[in-house]
Amino acid sequence: MADDTILITSEGRVATLTINRPDRLNALNEPTRAAIVSALDRFENDPDVRAVILTGAGQKAFIAGADIGEFEGRTPVAQFRVMNSPETNAFEAADRFPKPIIAAINGFCLGGGCELAMACDFRIASDKAKLGQPEINLGLLPGGGGTQRLPRLVGLGNAYKLLYTGDMVTADEALRLGLVSEVVPAADLMTRVNALAAAIAAKSPVALRYIKEAVRASVRAPLDEGLRLERTLFGLVFASEDKVEGVEAFLQKRKPEFKGA
Ligand code: COA
Repeated sequence: MADDTILITSEGRVATLTINRPDRLNALNEPTRAAIVSALDRFENDPDVRAVILTGAGQKAFIAGADIGEFEGRTPVAQFRVMNSPETNAFEAADRFPKPIIAAINGFCLGGGCELAMACDFRIASDKAKLGQPEINLGLLPGGGGTQRLPRLVGLGNAYKLLYTGDMVTADEALRLGLVSEVVPAADLMTRVNALAAAIAAKSPVALRYIKEAVRASVRAPLDEGLRLERTLFGLVFASEDKVEGVEAFLQKRKPEFKGA
């Protein structure tokens, strides 16, 4: 399935959403963000999709940020509406997406691109990738969660440095900072991410969903509340058919076949 701005492919239980504006370095304009939101909505409701990969078309960029062309001449009121509309807020859609979502960072990952990658569950980068929040160079600040998610991933000092300077970091530096989980040679990026996504997609969808809910709470709720939620969700998952299958398969020394119920 394809439209102008994104491509969707699937292999087994893994869907890949590719931002498809390579001549603009996959910059996020309003139609692209709307297409991401609606694709994630479809994936959420499709039981055959158990994990999602987000990447960019072409050799050069994951996403080089918001489409700067859209900033010119746009009124503050229009900008406010666009940023707060659930139909176009791809950052919130990725963050709330209840299934595993992995960013495969294949090149420039800047501004809103880095913010969208940070809204995914984790990030695997090609050794050619460059990451950063260059909004300061435009006289702006990040508007897709960069001031909130970046310090949580890399710590306050590293976040301030990236946000104040607008400097890009290499994939290796991003790994050292904790911004990405793994760096792989560019030619191997999709093989590695596909393998990881397929391995995750074979796990219990019920357990994955509630792991995600509990982990999301860890950066939002006080510790005691998060721990209570974890115990509650453990009880809920304990009642799932997938738990019966997982325990039985272990005891029978066979591979489990999880159904998501
Ligand atoms: N919005 C709109 N268009 C963009 C874009 C963006 N964020 N990033 C790149 N493009 C366009 C360029 O204008 C250029 O278009 P053109 O061929 O019509 O001139 C095309 O994509 C290719 O980019 P180019 O700048 O020629 O590539 P480069 O290799 O010289 O530089 C970057 C790559 C990423 C360093 C540079 O494009 C850049 O700084 N982009 C903006 C990054 C940014 O500030 N993002 C945050 C936005 S809030």
